[in-house]
Amino acid sequence: MKKLLIAMSATALISFGAAANAAGDAAAGQATFSTCVGCHGANAEGGVGPKLAGQSAADIMKKLHEYKAGKQRGPMTSMMAPMAAGLSDQDIENVAAYLSTLH
Ligand code: HEC
Repeated sequence: MKKLLIAMSATALISFGAAANAAGDAAAGQATFSTCVGCHGANAEGGVGPKLAGQSAADIMKKLHEYKAGKQRGPMTSMMAPMAAGLSDQDIENVAAYLSTLH
């Protein structure tokens, strides 16, 4: 029994590690993206904000970290920066993972 418990918790740790790696959690990212659709479109096809579909997760993460750090990126940075400021590093990874699944 004790061995079984140890085996189970080891498995849990391994799968948690996999979920927390650079790939991000796309399902969680989809939930986060529900706050972005008003400007970026339901399928990230673009609207007030640029099209995000088709961009790589690495690109999305880099851009969001730049907004979060207060960097001026485009002419409408003041609209986007407060959105990025509200995201944790994990949120950014997750939303990037989700967006990279859209085309
Ligand atoms: C109020 C409207 C608005 C909301 C809400 C919003 N954005 Fe934006 N977003 C913009 C605008 C406008 C830009 C372009 C800003 C600029 O000129 O730098 C932008 C730019 C971006 C970019 C950079 C795109 C590129 O290719 O340069 C990313 C990535 C992004 N937004 C992600 C998100 C995510 C993720 C969310 C939700 C957490 C979100 N945005 C919510 C308006 C919005």
